[in-house]
Amino acid sequence: MAKAVEIRPLARDDDRGGFSCGEADLDRFFEHYAGQNQFKLHLAVTYVAVVEGRIAGFATVAASALERASIPGARQRKRLPSYPLPVLRLARLGVDTRAQGLGIGKALLRHVLGLALEQRDRLGCVGVVTDAKVKAVGFYAGLGFVALEGVREGLLVGEPHPMFLGIATIAATLAP
Ligand SMILES: CC(C)(COP(=O)(O)OP(=O)(O)OC[C@H]1O[C@@H](n2cnc3c(N)ncnc32)[C@H](O)[C@@H]1OP(=O)(O)O)[C@@H](O)C(=O)NCCC(=O)NCCS
Repeated sequence: MAKAVEIRPLARDDDRGGFSCGEADLDRFFEHYAGQNQFKLHLAVTYVAVVEGRIAGFATVAASALERASIPGARQRKRLPSYPLPVLRLARLGVDTRAQGLGIGKALLRHVLGLALEQRDRLGCVGVVTDAKVKAVGFYAGLGFVALEGVREGLLVGEPHPMFLGIATIAATLAP
């Protein structure tokens, strides 16, 4: 990634038209809903990656909770209580097609992992969850995400794949 990338929260006056990551639902969300979800409804916060003054990618996060039964790994599950556990949800992630393959998705994801560590220290957080599109499963798996347990049954082929990255792995990934 040769060009400088700034990652910051979405601003009200950011120009969101003309962004396209190749997935119409994500583009529609970014252009029409990311702002109201952040500034009016307070459901989520979107972070944007800015390269040379243009928005090249975005990641939307929200506080969420996960049942213990869904946490991958029997040993890890046994250590946790059986009420809903605090997690950070990576709700949406998209990189403009003109900027894909340059490390911007990875940079946004690392930023999100940093937010999970902040949440851990301020509010509690056991990991990051995401609903991966089928085409993006390899992207998340390459960064250590694993399939969530107990929530795949009944899903049709082609539907999102819920994936998880535990907070200990996140801390190790971001360790200096
Ligand atoms: C998936 C997406 C976010 C990746 O962003 P990107 O900026 O193109 O990815 P990066 O350049 O940061 O790639 C980081 C690493 O992931 C790998 N990678 C990227 N896309 C991948 C994919 N679809 N499958 C497997 N690996 C992938 C890259 O080869 C790279 O590997 P490396 O670190 O070993 O070199 C982007 O392609 C995109 O917006 N796709 C369309 C929307 C989408 O599917 N979003 C995810 C919704 S769940």
